[in-house]
Amino acid sequence: MKDFDSNKRREFLKASAILAGGAVLSSLPLAGAYAAGKGTIKIALVGCGGRGTGAAFQALATKHDVQLVAMADAFQDRLDKSYESLFGKFGKAKVNVPESKRFVGFDGYKQAIADADVVLLATPPGFRPIHFEEAVKRNKHVFMEKPVATDSPGIRKVLATAEEAKQKKLNVVVGLQRRYQNNYRETIKRIEDGAIGDVVSGQVYWNSGGVWVRPREANQTEMEYQMRNWYYFNWLCGDHITEQHVHNIDIANWVKNSYPVSAQGTGSRFLRTGKEYGEIFDNHTVEFLYADGAVIQSQCRHYEGTKNRVDESFQGTKGKVYLSANNDGKLWDYKGNSLYDHAGKNDPNPYQTEHDELFAAIAAGQYKFADAERSAMSTMTSLLGRYATYSGQEIKWEDALNSDINLMPDTFAWDAKPKILPDANGFYPIPMPGKTKVI
Ligand SMILES: NC(=O)c1ccc[n+]([C@@H]2O[C@H](COP(=O)([O-])OP(=O)(O)OC[C@H]3O[C@@H](n4cnc5c(N)ncnc54)[C@H](O)[C@@H]3O)[C@@H](O)[C@H]2O)c1
Repeated sequence: MKDFDSNKRREFLKASAILAGGAVLSSLPLAGAYAAGKGTIKIALVGCGGRGTGAAFQALATKHDVQLVAMADAFQDRLDKSYESLFGKFGKAKVNVPESKRFVGFDGYKQAIADADVVLLATPPGFRPIHFEEAVKRNKHVFMEKPVATDSPGIRKVLATAEEAKQKKLNVVVGLQRRYQNNYRETIKRIEDGAIGDVVSGQVYWNSGGVWVRPREANQTEMEYQMRNWYYFNWLCGDHITEQHVHNIDIANWVKNSYPVSAQGTGSRFLRTGKEYGEIFDNHTVEFLYADGAVIQSQCRHYEGTKNRVDESFQGTKGKVYLSANNDGKLWDYKGNSLYDHAGKNDPNPYQTEHDELFAAIAAGQYKFADAERSAMSTMTSLLGRYATYSGQEIKWEDALNSDINLMPDTFAWDAKPKILPDANGFYPIPMPGKTKVI
């Protein structure tokens, strides 16, 4: 897709505006996909780790007739643990996955997807474009976790598949759950209605202490090591600016109802330099420039023992806003008068809401959710930020989106070689601003 230019940008804005209201897009079911009144909605889980198991739990906890019928994971032990916990919670009536429907390895996703009406995709994000493509090809509705890719070729595949899903009227919900959280919905609706004027600047943060390390074990192939320790390899994870901070970057795009035209920034491996941390940076600070001149500052870091901050602030021509996943949504004018304060409301869990809404639409035969395109755009925005910090250059949106640098291995097998390999001492090559090529 070499021509993702300003025409496409205008189309995207138009489409986002339509979807922002959550309107029913169509009530015509697609032949082959789940149709209203068909009975039990069969789901398959691909990627049975922490979030995948949680997503299956939420799908099964909706008030609809939902049954888990197939599971796929790269690793037997991950699949077994997930199956045991879901079966223990819901029993045979809802978790009907005989051993013949538990698929292990790189290719199991195909069989699991074939068996379901709705597919939950929750592997590390590098695989998302491949799994999403297969699900839509097979006419399945989809819940998929964020981020939706780790490189630009992956984003382009997701955009093409998003288009196919729209043509086929398949519902697609993406786990950017702030989009399903009341404080964000209510507060951003007021911003869209003009409460703080035009948004001209903002600051978005994911500052935390970092995540797990799964140390190398004896007899592991390099592929198995990287798959187990996926957070620290870009082909699998995308770096934490993508894996975590995409949530906050997506809020910037939502508030701007757009996405940036360029980015510049700085980042490094400052404190987290050990070989167990693969190739990713531990800090990124990026300025995203939007077409109307607005600048959003983004900051994310994994520094243990420092102040945690995960939230978003924006300034408009008439007032300002503070948002966070702790149900905050506060608007003020510049005299300090409160224009709206969402805090303190007893809101539902957005992880549950995204499944409640998706399964309600599917059960009613409605086509209501087309999250893939905007989620691909927000994932792309996080990649644009990573390209800026890794290269030390100012990167333009179109160049970033059209980058042909493909991080994925040529072959998926336990004895195949990922593209990034350690040196004799076990250290991986790390991005070097001024030298690293990103486009
Ligand atoms: N929305 C949120 O707040 C949220 C929270 C946590 C995680 N996530 C996202 O969910 C995804 C999974 O994260 P997690 O924390 O559950 O990680 P995890 O490591 O616990 O689970 C990932 C699972 O996928 C499996 N897997 C890897 N490659 C596979 C393949 N090719 N086919 C089948 N299975 C494969 C792994 O073996 C593992 O069991 C990530 O994209 C992450 O960003 C989202």
